[in-house]
Amino acid sequence: MHLRLLLMKYNKVLGIDIGGSGVKGAPVNTDDGLMLESRYRIPTPSPATPQNVAPLIAEMVKHFKWEGPIGCGFPGVVQNGVAKTAANVDDSWINTDVNKLFKKATGLPVTVINDADAAGLAEMKFGAGMDAKGVVLLCTVGTGIGTVLFVNGRLVPNTEFGHIELMGMDAEKYAADAARKAEDLTWEDWAQRFDQYLVTLEKLVNPDLIIVGGGASKKGERFLPLLTVKARVVPAELLNNAGLVGAALAANYTHKQDGKGKKKKKGKKSREGAF
Ligand code: BGC
Repeated sequence: MHLRLLLMKYNKVLGIDIGGSGVKGAPVNTDDGLMLESRYRIPTPSPATPQNVAPLIAEMVKHFKWEGPIGCGFPGVVQNGVAKTAANVDDSWINTDVNKLFKKATGLPVTVINDADAAGLAEMKFGAGMDAKGVVLLCTVGTGIGTVLFVNGRLVPNTEFGHIELMGMDAEKYAADAARKAEDLTWEDWAQRFDQYLVTLEKLVNPDLIIVGGGASKKGERFLPLLTVKARVVPAELLNNAGLVGAALAANYTHKQDGKGKKKKKGKKSREGAF
């Protein structure tokens, strides 16, 4: 217990990112966004059901001998710790209280948020969005497309623009990195699709800055110069670690709020948009 308090005090949080192919985790210093130990990765089980994933969170805790708070990014809409969608994981997540499930599996306090929102928090605090004002749109491009919107540094959670309709399809099926791989598209062909996607989004939210993250961002030089959107487009800086770093930030924020809990109005549960 002493150790747990110490860890909370010094802003150290175990950040975890649940992805389509791997569950990744590392203890993070939320003051500087740096990982305190090498990242540990466990392949995502199939089917990726709550029952199959919860023990992996416990394994992660055991691996790092962790005693403090946990922040976790989940690839779907998350409201007050409850999963509301599950585009690239098992449908049985829908309406699962993920905070509760992982708390039960680990015995530790857990804060779960959307994985793209988590990545956005990290990029805004420590990466490509540092000091960015106005409307910032971040897209994580991997198995799916995650989107994050910040207005003057404040997160608008669960935007889910990856599922707008494009060419008669769910946009992420047409323009995610998974589509490039599955259809064996050249970077040029895929860039055209991704550009079409960004141009459509630009018409809807007119961002001042677009940050491209996720797996595809490692190859930014292959497609970023081919984009025609008006907004400035930059690659994410924290690459694949943004999700777990941002999840740690979200948990740190939650714990600070809980510390001040007495001031919260009774019955006011939602922290949406609070980051
Ligand atoms: C999900 C989003 C998620 C994104 C990236 C999409 O399919 O709907 O919630 O952020 O994939 O994982």
